Amino acid sequence: MRLQQLIDALAAGGVDRDDVTVANLERDLSAVLRRLHAGEYARTDFVERNVFDVPRRTREFFSYMEGYLRLAGRWIEALDGFPISELDDVVDLCPGWAPKIELALLRTGFRGTVVVVDTDARALAALSSLIAGFAPPFTMAAECADFFAPPARRFRCAVANHVVDDLILSRFAPEPSSSLYEDEGALVAAWLKIAERADEVVAGFPAELAEAFSRWVAPDGWLLLSHYDSFVDELLGSPVRALVDQVFRATVSALVERGFVVEREAPAGYVRLKLKQR
Ligand SMILES: C[S@@+](CC[C@H](N)C(=O)[O-])C[C@H]1O[C@@H](n2cnc3c(N)ncnc32)[C@H](O)[C@@H]1O
Repeated sequence: MRLQQLIDALAAGGVDRDDVTVANLERDLSAVLRRLHAGEYARTDFVERNVFDVPRRTREFFSYMEGYLRLAGRWIEALDGFPISELDDVVDLCPGWAPKIELALLRTGFRGTVVVVDTDARALAALSSLIAGFAPPFTMAAECADFFAPPARRFRCAVANHVVDDLILSRFAPEPSSSLYEDEGALVAAWLKIAERADEVVAGFPAELAEAFSRWVAPDGWLLLSHYDSFVDELLGSPVRALVDQVFRATVSALVERGFVVEREAPAGYVRLKLKQR
């Protein structure tokens, strides 16, 4: 039986098991099929595993760390010529658990303060603790705050790595996005619902995002954004990717309308914008 047929049979009640078993099995098999299509099995070990299997555990950990370092490397290239080391502080917006910007700043020798802002206090604590282990030349401060709420102050430099998708989720998902990241079925369902409202999202959200971003940046300051296809985007498929790409591009245009100037665009979706003094 083909995997899809088995999933259909389960959904149609063609397998003699209790409801919870069928629902769980259906969800797991759908996830298997989605991962197969996305090529995910070549990258991570979702299969049940032996906790003593050091090579597998290490490989998965390394694959994350190498991904973070690869992105940090792209940021370093993108920051070439930008006077980051002259700045007193940088705010990293919605980093979650991923210390990509912080690893890049470590490698640039940045000596100021890095303020990480996210609504997920656990992620902020984990990220700060990991980076502290590298004895960075910079100071770290964590603020558990909503990106959309007016910040207490503006920064000379605000950085946001691949956040447009997260901010779409945060604004349009029916439940808090923090719970969605821990439930892949719910995450996919939330995205499919949002994709159905794509026209509405594209029509109004970029201006809202541009306004929220601009509240973080001081006059004459910079906003550094990057947007690329992440593995999550690949798993979610092309309608969601197309929507997020469109919102990202429209947000850059909306920022320009609000007084930002595009100073640099680099490969891998990096855009450096400067807010003209007003
Ligand atoms: C998938 S994670 C990491 C994204 C990260 N920038 C990266 O490059 O991997 C997204 C993070 O965005 C945070 N987030 C989403 N909406 C937010 C909001 N409105 N305010 C603050 N943080 C938010 C979530 O809490 C989560 O930790």
